[in-house]
Amino acid sequence: MEEIEPLIAQAAQSLCEASAVVCLTGAGVSAESGVPTFRDAQSGLWSRFDAAELASPEGFERDPGLVWRWYMWRLQQLEAASPNPGHIALAELARTIEKFDLVTQNVDDLHEQAGSVGVVHLHGSLFRFRCRLCAHPHRLREAERRAANPPACAACGELVRPDVVWFGEGLPLDALRAASEAAHGSDVMLVAGTSGLVYPAAQLPLIARQAGATIIDINVERSPISDRANLFLQGKSGEVLPRLAKALQDAKA
Ligand code: OAD
Repeated sequence: MEEIEPLIAQAAQSLCEASAVVCLTGAGVSAESGVPTFRDAQSGLWSRFDAAELASPEGFERDPGLVWRWYMWRLQQLEAASPNPGHIALAELARTIEKFDLVTQNVDDLHEQAGSVGVVHLHGSLFRFRCRLCAHPHRLREAERRAANPPACAACGELVRPDVVWFGEGLPLDALRAASEAAHGSDVMLVAGTSGLVYPAAQLPLIARQAGATIIDINVERSPISDRANLFLQGKSGEVLPRLAKALQDAKA
């Protein structure tokens, strides 16, 4: 692995000169908090479970109980997780940089727990539930966590589902709009812990690049995004992001 200190200094300089920065995060930023990613060859959720069965409207239609129990298991995992130094460094960057928008594909709340505010959740949240038909919000009860099947909507009686985006579904429009606007208006786009394989999220760095932004990618391995980035900082986000936040402070001092 290449020594990345000079690249971190360059990235910090770009951040120092930027007036608007947008950051896109993916499952990799939560990996060091013990939350499995999706596409890791061994521990990734989609290498162990069938995405079509568990994360699609058709899968939910076929077996609502299976899908419910799987999300309750994941919810338990997320509740046990704490923010790692990568999440904390991003909250710090937001305090240092004049305009800093944080856009995540993650359905956890670790950015918020680390102190980030106004986080745009492109793929929804596993802490929210709603009716699959009328979208009425549902407050999860203790007994429902252990139930074999999803609860019924209090408004219409249809099945309740997690408020996350499934394969074949559109992204929440307000989140997508906010993310696209931030990408269009950014001088620097920081990308951390995403494989860049899922659209439209993966389009955001391309939008930013076309609008003239510098793209900085942080990942343990190369991805389609790092191939197009101006700077690729190879390493764990929980290690690289704190070094970047520190380098920015030094550059500003
Ligand atoms: P993936 O699992 O596709 O990719 C995780 C990325 O993080 C990979 O590129 C890893 O190399 C990298 N990575 C792993 N550990 C890391 C670490 N400690 N530091 C830095 N990078 C690390 O996850 P996403 O790109 O988030 O969608 O996946 C995108 C979407 O696909 C998810 O939001 C989810 C999934 O299906 C929905 O649920 C709608």
